[in-house]
Amino acid sequence: MSRVDEIVARAGELPPFPAVIQRVMALMDDPLVGADKILDVVKYDQAITAKVIKMCNSTILGGAMPVSTLRDALVRIGNKQLLQIILSAGGTDLLQRELAGYDLPRGDLWKHSILCALLAESLCDVVKYDSPDKAFTAGLLHDVGKLAMAEFVAGAYEAISGAAASGKTSFLEAETQVLGVSHAEIGGRLGELWNFDAEMVAAIRHHHAPGGATGESKLPFLVHLSDILCLTSGIGVGADGLQYKIDYDLCKSNGIGSREFELAMIRLMEVEAQFHGIVAMFDLEG
Ligand SMILES: [Fe+2]
Ligand SMILES: [Fe+2]
Repeated sequence: MSRVDEIVARAGELPPFPAVIQRVMALMDDPLVGADKILDVVKYDQAITAKVIKMCNSTILGGAMPVSTLRDALVRIGNKQLLQIILSAGGTDLLQRELAGYDLPRGDLWKHSILCALLAESLCDVVKYDSPDKAFTAGLLHDVGKLAMAEFVAGAYEAISGAAASGKTSFLEAETQVLGVSHAEIGGRLGELWNFDAEMVAAIRHHHAPGGATGESKLPFLVHLSDILCLTSGIGVGADGLQYKIDYDLCKSNGIGSREFELAMIRLMEVEAQFHGIVAMFDLEG
């Protein structure tokens, strides 16, 4: 079995992405589907329902008139915030793992992913992408390939970080040179395995090089821009975080000039405040 086949096989051994979140993602694609329909799906997953209600009561509502059902939570905190909590809660078991190969202690990949999700959602108007919920989800899942790659990256750490430190290759290229495949490609394969739609798979697969994505969707570029800006925040930045550079020509060709770039940096500061609120909620879980 080749190294690439081994990594792909390891990807297949990861715990399944929560089925309820897969269904929520599919429903979000249809603009005619309301929050009611989404709650009808989520309510059958007791673990996620319990987490969401607990978080609403403990942090957002601060104990004032606690809610006991998802529907009450929807009325009190609104559609958008509830959906963010559902998606964030669904990803915690997978994304909170420690990933030694990337120097990411337990929780750090999840923190980076949440920040990227919030920023991708916030930058939809700047990048001219019209599905904020999908942007949030893609931001949350873009580095999911690291889950399957971490152990292999750890085993070849010196070769990969040495190649990346030379400055001639990015961390992603070094991964591909040494292991035969990158975490972005493995993430794309995981997305296919979990039946994500083609646009979501492309955003994950091409989040470091959105020019490689075929099709008209702005989602791969939106996730790329959000990811790279988040890495400048220093939150959840592992071994590879400082090895990626902003490609200003690529930004320009996607309509992001200096004015839009400044706006994006301001949005990053704005979503950081939101991010700390979400992290506080989940810390209460632990
Ligand atoms: Fe990445
Ligand atoms: Fe990332």
